[in-house]
Amino acid sequence: MSKQFDVIVIGGGPGGYVAAIRAAQLGFNVACIDEWKNEKGGPAPGGTCTNVGCIPSKALLQSSEHFEHANKHFAEHGITASDVKMDVAKMIARKDTVVKQNNDGILYLFKKNKISFFHGRGSFVKAAEGGYEIKVAGAAEESLTGKQIIIATGSNARALPGTPFDEELVLSNDGALRVGAVPKKLGLIGSGVIGLEMGSVWRRLGAEVTILEGLPTFLGAVDEQIAKEAKKAFDKQGLKIELGVKVGEIKTGKKGVSIAYTNAKGEAQSLDVDKLIVSIGRVPNTIGLNVEAVGLALDERGAIVVDGDCKTNLPGVWAVGDVVRGPMLAHKAEEEGVAVAERIAGQHGHVNFNTVPWVIYTSPEIAWVGRTEQQLKADGVKYKAGTFPFLANGRARALGDTTGMVKMLADAETDEILGVHIVGPQASELISEAVVAMEFKASSEDIARICHAHPSLSEATKEAALAVDKRTLNF
Ligand code: FAD
Ligand code: NAI
Repeated sequence: MSKQFDVIVIGGGPGGYVAAIRAAQLGFNVACIDEWKNEKGGPAPGGTCTNVGCIPSKALLQSSEHFEHANKHFAEHGITASDVKMDVAKMIARKDTVVKQNNDGILYLFKKNKISFFHGRGSFVKAAEGGYEIKVAGAAEESLTGKQIIIATGSNARALPGTPFDEELVLSNDGALRVGAVPKKLGLIGSGVIGLEMGSVWRRLGAEVTILEGLPTFLGAVDEQIAKEAKKAFDKQGLKIELGVKVGEIKTGKKGVSIAYTNAKGEAQSLDVDKLIVSIGRVPNTIGLNVEAVGLALDERGAIVVDGDCKTNLPGVWAVGDVVRGPMLAHKAEEEGVAVAERIAGQHGHVNFNTVPWVIYTSPEIAWVGRTEQQLKADGVKYKAGTFPFLANGRARALGDTTGMVKMLADAETDEILGVHIVGPQASELISEAVVAMEFKASSEDIARICHAHPSLSEATKEAALAVDKRTLNF
């Protein structure tokens, strides 16, 4: 006998578990199915984000940053820390604890919201009367029927053709987060978000890191001025990034990995490393969903086709997060999950794609929202730009971290903020003010007139707003 639900969510990552909670809050009888297993085979909801993405990467970034501070920056404060050592096993164990706390937190939230959680793989069986029959293949097999189905099955790392991940020598994000000892030489393919974050972790811990990037421009999606400033900082740190390369044959052996490539000048090169992280993007995951059984439409990339409201081609079937179009970000997945639950309840769920922030958690951090200067030029929009360097910010000086700047772009006629781009300390936190401002359609003058606490890094945002009108006070 099939168990009946109003809403069945397949996938318990940030898109899925948040959709389940919102649907339960709205009074629906909700099931959430997730197949992720912890090392004991038990449930580990939270998806890529919690298990092998956002959370563990930030834990390692924090540990490695402490190590770098102790080694390189404590002395500036008069602190002697000699013989500083990194116990990699302990760092990884701490990261695992942080992950487990998050897994447990989600299981608690399922209970609190009376969501029925099923641990296993969910797949379509058939369209049933008034909904769909879903099979759960796990420790125990279950049959569920749901009036509404939300698919949030996420994404998987893309492998280089002919070079599958073995997670020992050729690592995806999964293996990159559980390397047992600092490799002497680490190679990465792709200087995108994962390449820079993971490259930074292992460089700080002492690895000689080389990142091979296919495109000739560094961080092409980022505002050029900001990307240039970030690249300068990474170069200074010794993070070696080669742009415009063409990766050829990759050989693995007892000594590690050998990568043949041609550099930007077209010269044949080779790179020998102990381990290689391949971070060249991610592919939507519909493996095992049995989409054929119900005729769910996928696009040429394998993503589930949805409209602006996350509706698929099937009535009552929705899809959110990495498995659909749009940026592959946890907060985008969450926003879509909430909006879909609200639409199912007849409300007007809404996601504003123009104000989805991006953050790269390197040091310096890089964060942005809205359009870049190059996008505004391409769109033919007349704009004013204001920048303010952290070098002139008192709090940044006190912190000992004056790299970077805040840059604000505003419409030349209306003064509406069109984009804010930050490279520097705590950019991840500073960007929120810009997101709020843009959601409220604020002008740069609005920010310039708001009282910001002193001394704080956020004063750099106010000063960048003042700079739009060429009237900074402290620079
Ligand atoms: P996922 O988190 O991938 O969750 C999907 C879940 O569905 C998984 O648990 C999977 O096991 C389960 N599943 C799949 N198929 C089935 C099935 N048939 N039955 C049952 N369960 C199934 N984003 C940020 O915003 N900030 C960051 O700092 C950040 N850092 C990242 C760092 C790394 C190293 C990586 C790889 C990604 C990072 N991301 C970050 C991206 C973020 O992790 C994803 O955008 C986010 O997890 C997408 O959420 P989702 O719910 O769509 O999918
Ligand atoms: P990415 O799309 O950020 O970067 C991939 C890079 O690899 C690009 O620069 C691309 O030009 C390059 N590339 C692609 N194919 C190549 C090839 N054959 N040879 C050399 N270079 C090649 O993808 P990444 O870093 O794998 O991350 C995947 C996604 O996960 C991100 O786009 C983001 O959505 C999410 N993520 C978000 C984080 C955050 O929000 N802080 C952190 C990590 C991941």
